[in-house]
Amino acid sequence: MKTIKVDLGKRSYNINIGKGIIYSTGKIIRSVSKCRACFVVSNKDIADLYSGILKRSLIGEGLDVKCFNVAGSESAKSCSSWLRVIRSLARFDKGKGACLVSLGGGVVGDLGGFAAATYRRGIDFVQIPTTLLAQVDAAIGGKAAIDLDFAKNLVGAFYQPRAVISDIGLLKTLPVRQIRNGLSEVIKYAVVFDETLFSYLEKHMADILRLNPRCLEYIISRCSRIKAKVVSIDELEQKGYRSMLNFGHTIGHAIESASSYSGSIHHGEAVAIGMSAAFDISVSIGMARASSAERFKGILKAAGLGYKINRVSPSRVLAATLYDKKTTNGIRRWVLPERIGHGIVCSNVPAGIIRKAVLRLY
Ligand SMILES: NC(=O)c1ccc[n+]([C@@H]2O[C@H](COP(=O)([O-])OP(=O)(O)OC[C@H]3O[C@@H](n4cnc5c(N)ncnc54)[C@H](O)[C@@H]3O)[C@@H](O)[C@H]2O)c1
Ligand SMILES: [Zn+2]
Repeated sequence: MKTIKVDLGKRSYNINIGKGIIYSTGKIIRSVSKCRACFVVSNKDIADLYSGILKRSLIGEGLDVKCFNVAGSESAKSCSSWLRVIRSLARFDKGKGACLVSLGGGVVGDLGGFAAATYRRGIDFVQIPTTLLAQVDAAIGGKAAIDLDFAKNLVGAFYQPRAVISDIGLLKTLPVRQIRNGLSEVIKYAVVFDETLFSYLEKHMADILRLNPRCLEYIISRCSRIKAKVVSIDELEQKGYRSMLNFGHTIGHAIESASSYSGSIHHGEAVAIGMSAAFDISVSIGMARASSAERFKGILKAAGLGYKINRVSPSRVLAATLYDKKTTNGIRRWVLPERIGHGIVCSNVPAGIIRKAVLRLY
């Protein structure tokens, strides 16, 4: 098992990465929490696969356990399901000092994190991410949120877990489209921070898509290390460093929003298109070379990710791009690649260039 520390002083925690480590969850929780019980939030599909193993590990350490399943995917990040989680948790907890454990992808992680942050002004929380996207990104760094019907992640908190348990063995049941979805965030890290990771992806993409455990452990560890460092430096996204992780997300979120979060396009797929647009913008303003953009398109293709928008109208994507909540004093900041492995934040991108980049996505 590999451990990577997210260094946040007294709130520091480890990301544990390895195959089969879900069997050690009870021991890991015992080492980071004084809780006497665990309230496990999951969804039915994931619980059917893994909650039995998890329960045995927790009970084996003398912990009382209750599992609570939310319905649906992104729709589970709603105010009503947050309330259902809290009500069930409160009925179970009754002075036990429960720890909330999220077992699932980014949806369950975000919802569980927000419930842990808000119940009794914060209880112990552990993330067991079961998607590639959640293992490399969503489960690390303490961003917890639920959606409003017209905007994603609008209600949330920064709330760090006590531990992250990334068992790469859990990815074997993940549909390949979800693997590609997570690879989009892996590519994001590589473009913005890590050319070595980018070259590794170029060399090993076929093995990664075949879920070769050594390759998975390498990319998950590499991304976790980057995210841990970013969060340690700029936990609350106030120094401009954490916002580097938003590469591809301005237009990516706009595409998700313009498709009304219907689930027709996954987060990583939208981010892949958003990263393509960001590369286009960077080339247009004379910052990145066209050859870097070509190399980037090559890796998207190898991962099976597209860079064109289907079914969502350009006017809706442009309108949603302008609504993006990530502005500072009304100024929209763009994370743009200067070259592979190095991104920078730009705030003075002409609107005409953005418009043209969006239109070229069709
Ligand atoms: N908090 C953050 O920093 C952060 C970062 C990135 C994304 N997010 C959020 O994450 C969410 C997307 O997360 P996601 O891509 O993990 O999607 P998800 O949580 O919806 O999971 C995708 C699907 O895979 C299924 N699944 C999960 N694990 C499985 C497994 N091991 N085997 C079989 N099926 C499995 C789920 O049931 C679901 O149907 C979005 O809501 C996004 O906003 C949060
Ligand atoms: Zn993302």
